[in-house]
Amino acid sequence: MTPPTNPLIPLGDGHTPLGDDDRQGLKLTYVTTRDELNEAEQENILRARQGRRPPTVEALLDDKYLRDLHRAMFGDVWTWAGQYRQLEMSLGIDPVQIAVRVRDLVSDTKIWIASEEPLIAAVRFHHRLVWIHPFSNGNGRHGRLAADYLIVALGQPPLTWGAFSGARNIEQVRQQYLIALRAADRGDFGPLEEFVVT
Ligand SMILES: Nc1ncnc2c1ncn2[C@@H]1O[C@H](COP(=O)(O)OP(=O)(O)O)[C@@H](O)[C@H]1O
Ligand SMILES: [Mg+2]
Repeated sequence: MTPPTNPLIPLGDGHTPLGDDDRQGLKLTYVTTRDELNEAEQENILRARQGRRPPTVEALLDDKYLRDLHRAMFGDVWTWAGQYRQLEMSLGIDPVQIAVRVRDLVSDTKIWIASEEPLIAAVRFHHRLVWIHPFSNGNGRHGRLAADYLIVALGQPPLTWGAFSGARNIEQVRQQYLIALRAADRGDFGPLEEFVVT
């Protein structure tokens, strides 16, 4: 059965034209709408996935690997791909803390792997990564692919990210995902553990 939704498309907005702020660092000058941008990014991500073998746990849990992965996923589209953001955003931590907090995350994840089920480790890893919000954009897709890589490296099937939830459209899936993330923000990981295998 083919999933009705693809976990690597942005769980986000639609046909709106891109504003000047959205175009900062855009390499592809022909892109003018959100849909065109999503498509260009999607092609970039596909090439990135085809061009690299799934990492081992050791290889993945490394802050440089995580930056390189972001660059591979978005570097054909954005000049700043693979670089930590320098601006404060509504989501995410203070930019000056990003480098340290990503390094803490990879070492904490090694501890979770040693002490928890793969699913629990992968969900905590994903949530913390997107909560840190290391990059200006693409954090969700990067964090979902990174979590898929982690759980596969731990010998489990990739996560489904709500693809089989019976949701009627991507917007419903997005809402379920955001509700689960907000519960995880409060320390309740149950909804996200359920969502990622639904
Ligand atoms: N309350 C939240 N807590 C943690 N992460 C969140 C929260 N809300 C949104 N996110 C994450 O931020 C992502 C959106 O950030 P963005 O950088 O635009 O990623 P993308 O471009 O891949 O959609 C969401 O997909 C989700 O992973
Ligand atoms: Mg985005």
